[in-house]
Amino acid sequence: MCKPLAMFDLTGRTALVTGAGRGVGLGIAASLIEAGATVYVNDLIPERAEAAANGLGPNARPLAFSVTDLEAVRASINTVEPIDILVNNAGIPPAMRPMKFRDMDPGEWAAYVDVNLYGVVNCVKATIDAMCDRRWGRVITISSGAGTQGLNIGVSMYGAGKGGAISFMRHLAVETARNGVTANTLALGLMERDDPDLTEESRTVTAAMAKQVPVGRLGTGRDIGSTCVFLASNEAEWITGQTIAVNGGAVTT
Ligand SMILES: NC(=O)c1ccc[n+]([C@@H]2O[C@H](COP(=O)([O-])OP(=O)(O)OC[C@H]3O[C@@H](n4cnc5c(N)ncnc54)[C@H](O)[C@@H]3O)[C@@H](O)[C@H]2O)c1
Repeated sequence: MCKPLAMFDLTGRTALVTGAGRGVGLGIAASLIEAGATVYVNDLIPERAEAAANGLGPNARPLAFSVTDLEAVRASINTVEPIDILVNNAGIPPAMRPMKFRDMDPGEWAAYVDVNLYGVVNCVKATIDAMCDRRWGRVITISSGAGTQGLNIGVSMYGAGKGGAISFMRHLAVETARNGVTANTLALGLMERDDPDLTEESRTVTAAMAKQVPVGRLGTGRDIGSTCVFLASNEAEWITGQTIAVNGGAVTT
């Protein structure tokens, strides 16, 4: 009898998933653990990181910090074993609300760029040298269709941060390609939300938009998690510098 091929095995790998206290990041953390990795579950809110890690079992460990604070990122990451797989998932600032650019106050711009661009840069800074020294690493950044195309739904500054991170990943990928490190971005489509504070109006709009997704449903954290497992695996070592749409078949430009 042939044994089944053990592909996409992450046994022995250590991962950090940012913003993993709920939603997409929680699904990514669960998928990486199922594939064999040990996962540091980051969140801005310590109780959320703790509860998520408890729910994920013995191969999950909470690691709370804000990705926007480079010193906090460095201090936390220095306390744990070297990270092999970095998933930059944190990306929705707590006060996010859809608003056209012309209606935005300049004081509201920075939050979107801080978490979506500098948050990624900070976490890469704190992990990339050790990846290059060990000649193996995976950086996966969770972006959005808002970072690859224009949308008339009031997300221009969010899109600016998301697009900036896509561009940063492309450059990082070629700078570190000879060090055994890959860097890729996933451009997500419309996802199920795990936010109890969402308004009824927002839920209704999302449910209506879900019908327009070609596969007929919103994405889940596990849809993104399985893509992350693939990109984090040895088998994906020849894929780098790419932006992959994971969006239920939505046509992007
Ligand atoms: N929800 C969607 O429809 C959708 C669509 C496209 C892309 N995305 C992207 O997917 C990712 C996850 O989205 P989600 O819907 O699961 O978000 P969410 O708000 O449900 O969860 C994100 C988690 O990140 C944490 N967080 C926020 N700021 C942080 C910071 N500075 N440092 C550490 N943690 C922080 C939050 O506390 C929260 O627990 C984001 O990057 C988002 O931009 C989401």
